[in-house]
Amino acid sequence: MAKESKQQQNLFSEKGSSKNVQQKEKILVTAALPYANGPIHLGHLVEYVQADMFVRFLKLSGKDVVFVCADDTHGTPVEIAAAKEKIPPEQLIAKYYDDHKEDFASFFIDFDVYHSTNSPENKFYSDFFFEKLTEKKLIYQRLVELTYCESCKRYLPDRYVKGKCPKCNAEDQYGDQCEKCNATYQPVDLVEPHCSICGAAPVRKQSLHYFFRLGSFSQQLQQWLESNSSVQQDVKNFVAEWIKNGLQDWDISRDGPYFGFRIPGELNKYYYVWLDAPIGYIAATEKYSKENLNQTATAAYWHSENAKIIHFIGKDIIYFHFLFWPAMLMGVGLNLPADLAVHGHLTINGEKMSKSRGNFLTAKDYLAVADHRPEFLRFYYASHLVKAISDINLDFEDFKTIINSDLVSNIANFVHRTLVFINNNFDSRLGDLGDDEKFFLQQLQPKYKAVIEHYSEYNFKEAVRGLLEISSIGNRYFQDNQPWQLVKTDKKKCHRVVTAAANIVKDLALLSLPVLPKYSEKVLRLLGTDDIEKLSFDSLGRRLAGSKIGRSGIVFAPIEETISLAKVFPAVLRVGIIDEITEHPDADKLYVLKVDIGTGKPKVIQLVAGLRPYYKKDELLGKKIIVASNLKHAKLRGFESQGMLLAADDGKRVTVVSPQDSAPGDLVFPEGSDPEKIAGNRKQLAIDEFYRLNLRVRDEKVMYGAKPLKTSTEIIPVDAADDAVVR
Ligand code: 2FM
Ligand code: ZN
Repeated sequence: MAKESKQQQNLFSEKGSSKNVQQKEKILVTAALPYANGPIHLGHLVEYVQADMFVRFLKLSGKDVVFVCADDTHGTPVEIAAAKEKIPPEQLIAKYYDDHKEDFASFFIDFDVYHSTNSPENKFYSDFFFEKLTEKKLIYQRLVELTYCESCKRYLPDRYVKGKCPKCNAEDQYGDQCEKCNATYQPVDLVEPHCSICGAAPVRKQSLHYFFRLGSFSQQLQQWLESNSSVQQDVKNFVAEWIKNGLQDWDISRDGPYFGFRIPGELNKYYYVWLDAPIGYIAATEKYSKENLNQTATAAYWHSENAKIIHFIGKDIIYFHFLFWPAMLMGVGLNLPADLAVHGHLTINGEKMSKSRGNFLTAKDYLAVADHRPEFLRFYYASHLVKAISDINLDFEDFKTIINSDLVSNIANFVHRTLVFINNNFDSRLGDLGDDEKFFLQQLQPKYKAVIEHYSEYNFKEAVRGLLEISSIGNRYFQDNQPWQLVKTDKKKCHRVVTAAANIVKDLALLSLPVLPKYSEKVLRLLGTDDIEKLSFDSLGRRLAGSKIGRSGIVFAPIEETISLAKVFPAVLRVGIIDEITEHPDADKLYVLKVDIGTGKPKVIQLVAGLRPYYKKDELLGKKIIVASNLKHAKLRGFESQGMLLAADDGKRVTVVSPQDSAPGDLVFPEGSDPEKIAGNRKQLAIDEFYRLNLRVRDEKVMYGAKPLKTSTEIIPVDAADDAVVR
């Protein structure tokens, strides 16, 4: 069965491994692969923005860089989400693949390739690792005790079982890793475990699993860590401690049913998702190589001395990237990461982002509340990012201050006033520079260097400070020279002054490109730079004179109000009245209702609701209800449902939520949010997005996080027990 594949030959080809000193160093940058089980959120974006800025910086510095990423498609995170949506995992990952790509594009995160771990390339390299490591006796088999659910008749790997963390005792943790203390462990180690499908307590059952000898890499890993001068000290300390406490061999297999790659020669065993996920970095490189370079290029990144791999990751996955992954690479003899930039988590207004707190913001939510300003978020993140594992807080007061005073009043103001002055007074033409101006510009060079230095150290916070300093100097120069006076007394001098200012604008825009790619590009185009692809920091200080420029328009307007999370509410809820009610002919739990929602086209809509076990027809006829009117329409047993009515379910009783003092058509919204914005929402919600609002009963009110739902005339009452789910 010696199918020496082409790809394998490529990875270890002479060409790839040869030291070709003449060739430019190849840099590969990766960001962690997001699970294809949900939308990209603001927490994810910290990392993708950070990595994207770094890559843009490297490219502008003339480096040969490739930026790769992919969706992480396997394992229980995806299986559970697919089961919830009642679709096959393949369909779920296809949906999120498109969705993720769309979100990355909206934030100008510019991967050179965006691949998937459910790809032939990844299958190939996963088998390649498995076979190589087995050959070297670094993988062996051993019987293990696993959690098994007798009622579901299946093993319960990872997220299929929940319980208390065996290390820190935190409640409600998954079977593989604790989200509180980041410890990794086995499902059978969980305290008071239960099946996350049916809730039953699992039994223990044996199975033959594959293990990777992580334990035999302790020394090598420690040496690698100690000799690496790039890695953050705080991270090194953590990892050193883990190594000191002894590394356990790693279970890399899972029993079926499991969504992943089947292990060669096995009928019902699969690679654990964390085996094939990092291999996805190589698969993505291969995809890029095939499409853009040549067949042997993957090796130039992964098996060559003239290459450098840099991973961006969050602090929750340090164990995987500093122990499992490098050990696997050592085992097969591929390049180790040269650096890993580890960041902290995102908090919003000082709190951990969570759906139940109502402060969970997806990439799309952010765009909706921040007037579609992706670059505001990039700028804000950049203003706070250093290479450290401390958390980053997105505080909306601070956000407003930073955007308004630093980005709008300082940077964008300097750019605009300079260009518009030249538009209006010099027919959009630059003049010459005199000795004074040249001398002045020369003095800025060290400031430019400093910004570049900060970028190279992943110190985006200081880089932004440097940008602000340069634009403050520009603003002061403009102010001190009073060109609006000078133009009347000495037009030539005035022209020289504003031309000098335009030169600063050009350099400022170049230096801002990693943070504000679209804005800076626009400014550079106005200044006559057409070949944006070829831009580099080499042109810093190269003088512009005599040329024509474009017309400047206001690009960034200040933020008027502090962004409020309550505005995020994405469902359009309206009071309606039940006009007509019939039994569904083929479903004994369903009614088909005609509901007058007082507004819109059509004004009377059809709903299908599972209320027959709880209400008689005449109890519902004429009743006021609340309807979610912007849901994607669904067909229930052949009847279209154009929305959903709200009812509280406490596990025993289902109670229709019924407003008292409101009229059909009235909007229902969380207290403190802006009803006009909600009513203007044209986005259609999928049912799971609606469920994620997590509406609950508290004190006989319907709560969205800490806010009760209301109309303009009343707080909506509901006669149901606390914590009943409203949907
Ligand atoms: O923690 C996560 O979200 C994983 N999907 C990250 C995978 S990174 C890499 F190893 F693939
Ligand atoms: Zn079960």
